[in-house]
Amino acid sequence: MSAQAESRQDVGVTETFGDSLPNGTQLLHGQYEITQFLNAGGFGITYLAQDSLDRTVVIKECFPATMCRRADKDVRVRSRSNEREFESIVRLFGQEARALAKLDHPNIVGVHQVFEDNHTAYMALDLVKGRDLLDIIDEEPERLGPPEIRALLTKILDAVAYIHNEGVLHRDISPDNILLSESGEPVLIDFGAAREEATRKSRILTAQNTVKDGYSPQEFYISGSKQTNASDLYALAATFYHLITGEAPPISQARLAAVAEERQDPFVPLSGRFNRYDRFFLAALDRALEIFPKDRLQSAEDWLTEIDAERRRQAAQSKAQTDEKMQESIQKLVIETNRQVEEAQTKAVAPPPKAKKTPKPVEPKPMFPELMEAPPPVKPKPKLTPTSELEQKPADATKPAETPLVPLTDQTAADAAAAAAHIKKVVLEGGSTPRKRLLTRVLSVSLWRHSQGDDGQQATIAGKVDP
Ligand SMILES: Nc1ncnc2c1ncn2[C@@H]1O[C@H](COP(=O)(O)OP(=O)(O)OP(=O)(O)O)[C@@H](O)[C@H]1O
Ligand SMILES: [Mg+2]
Repeated sequence: MSAQAESRQDVGVTETFGDSLPNGTQLLHGQYEITQFLNAGGFGITYLAQDSLDRTVVIKECFPATMCRRADKDVRVRSRSNEREFESIVRLFGQEARALAKLDHPNIVGVHQVFEDNHTAYMALDLVKGRDLLDIIDEEPERLGPPEIRALLTKILDAVAYIHNEGVLHRDISPDNILLSESGEPVLIDFGAAREEATRKSRILTAQNTVKDGYSPQEFYISGSKQTNASDLYALAATFYHLITGEAPPISQARLAAVAEERQDPFVPLSGRFNRYDRFFLAALDRALEIFPKDRLQSAEDWLTEIDAERRRQAAQSKAQTDEKMQESIQKLVIETNRQVEEAQTKAVAPPPKAKKTPKPVEPKPMFPELMEAPPPVKPKPKLTPTSELEQKPADATKPAETPLVPLTDQTAADAAAAAAHIKKVVLEGGSTPRKRLLTRVLSVSLWRHSQGDDGQQATIAGKVDP
C-alpha cells in the first residue's frame, strides 16, 4: 500500500498527489466528476467520482508514474522514447478492464465502464463502502475472529474458483486488495495481470510493481516463470496467514533460497498452532503455502473441498464410485486382453520344421490371473499351424514362443485410455502396493497402445507385460 493510503474514503481526508487530477475534473464529456483522490500505485491513480446519475463510483486511471507526467489534464510521456511503451500499457490496461467487466460475481468488484480520455485509459468501478483487510488487521484486528475469517475465505475462494474457471489469474491477491464492505462481504479488487504483462514488456517499469513481499509466491520473482492458479492460491493463503497470525509469511524468495541451500524453511506452518480453527482449515492453508507450485493445492475448488466436511464426504463418496467403475473397466480390459492373447497364441504357435519331437505347445498365460473371476483357462491343446514367419525362424522349443501382437478392439482401447488416466492419478496419489503394481501393469498396456498411434483398429499390444 502506498503512502497515500490514509486518504481513503473511510478516513474522509481529501489529499492530493502531485500528478493526480484535481477535484471537480470532468471525465468522458462530463459523465464523471472527480470528487476525491484515493490512492496512487505505481501503475495507476484511484479516485472517487460522481457519475451522471449522481452515484459515487471509483475511477482508476492508467498512470504508470515512472514514464508519464501530467500536463493540464492530459497524461504525457516523460520522454519520446517511452511513447510506444506507454501506448502498449494503456492498451493492456483497457484490455484488462474489459476482461474484468465480463466477470460477474458478488465477491469481485463490478466494472461500470471502460473508456479513454486525457490520452490514457480509465475504468469506473462499483464503490465498495468499507475498508480493506490490511486496514482492518492494523486498526481493528478484533473484528475478525475464526468464524468470520473462515466465512471470508470461503467467499473469496468461490470468487477465485470463478475467475480461474474463466481463465483469469488475479496476480495480486493481498490484504490491501480485498475490501470488506459494511455488510461484511469481501470484495476482490485490483487485478494485477495487466501490470505484470506491462512490466514484462517494459524496460522502464520495474518488477517491484508486480511483487508483494510476503504474499507473492516465489515464481513471481522469477521473470518468465510459469504462473498458475496455484500462484493465486499461494497469495490468498498468505493473506489469510496474515489475518490469523498477525504477520505475513516470510518472503517466498527467502524461503526458496533457504530450501535451495538446505537450510530450514523460515516459514512456520499454521497446523497445530491455532486450536480455534479445525485442523483441515489450517492444513489447507499450509498446503497452499508450499514453496513449490506442484506441492500446493491446485485449485480453489479442491481447497473448498478440503475445508468443508460435507464436501469432503461427497468427494470421498464419488471417488469410491469412480474407483468401482474403474475396477470394472480394468476387469473388462484384463479379461478381453487375456482372451485375445490366448486366441492369438493358439493360432500362432508353430513347431520348428526340423524338430523331430513335437514341440511343447506354448501355454497361454493370462496376463492378469489375479484379476480373473473365473478359474484360469484350462490348458488348451491347440492344433499348431505354422506361420510363414515361424517357418523362416524356428522357435526354440525350450522357450515359450514370442507372443504375437494382438489387435485391440476399440472398446478395449478406450478402457485402456481411461485406465491410464486413472492409474496415473492413483500412482501419484499413493495407494496400496499390490494395487499400484496391478495398475502399473495395466498402464503399461495402455501406454504401449498409445505409443502405436491413435488408429484404434491398428493398435496392438505386446503379449507380455512386465509388472
Ligand atoms: N471499488 C472500490 N471501492 C472502494 N475503494 C476502492 C475501490 N477500488 C479501490 N479502492 C481503494 O483504493 C485503493 C487503491 O486501489 P487499487 O488497489 O485498485 O490500486 P493501487 O493498488 O493503488 O494501484 P495499482 O493498480 O497501481 O497497484 C484501495 O486500497 C482501496 O482502498
Ligand atoms: Mg491495490
